[in-house]
Amino acid sequence: MEKYSVADCRIIELDRHHSDRKGNLSVVENGITLPFDVKRVYYLYDVPGGESRGSHAHRSLNQLIIAASGSFRVTLFDGTERRSFFLNRPYQGLLVRPGLWRDLDDFSSGAVCMVLASDIYKEEDYIRDFEEFLAYRDNG
Ligand code: TYD
Repeated sequence: MEKYSVADCRIIELDRHHSDRKGNLSVVENGITLPFDVKRVYYLYDVPGGESRGSHAHRSLNQLIIAASGSFRVTLFDGTERRSFFLNRPYQGLLVRPGLWRDLDDFSSGAVCMVLASDIYKEEDYIRDFEEFLAYRDNG
């Protein structure tokens, strides 16, 4: 499995369909918008102020993280470099490649963190221990 760095992660601008009278609509389509196909969608909400989420890495999972409402910060770490993204636009998604530690914090009230993922939920894909993550990154 290729080991990605934080430089491989980026904000993807989603298509926006605007109507003065009816508001906005953004679209993600398999085979067009993302470098992976979406198998699962989940979302975080009602995160209390000051709380953080994440604190894990995935071995194989690709994700697109969207602030569907409100705002929060995502900090990625590849074992060497850290990179933070502040998400606050529902038409932007952060592409998170596999093998990166992520922390989510600074949630605004009412924030909704929507995640489009390349696979169904598999606990064995998680690395939840930071020391284990560092060893994983060190081993080739
Ligand atoms: P977890 O990934 O630990 O959330 P976070 O890292 O953002 O704090 O997931 C929290 C709980 O939800 C955990 O018990 C596993 C469960 N869960 C699922 O059952 N399916 C899913 O797709 C996800 C993402 C979590």
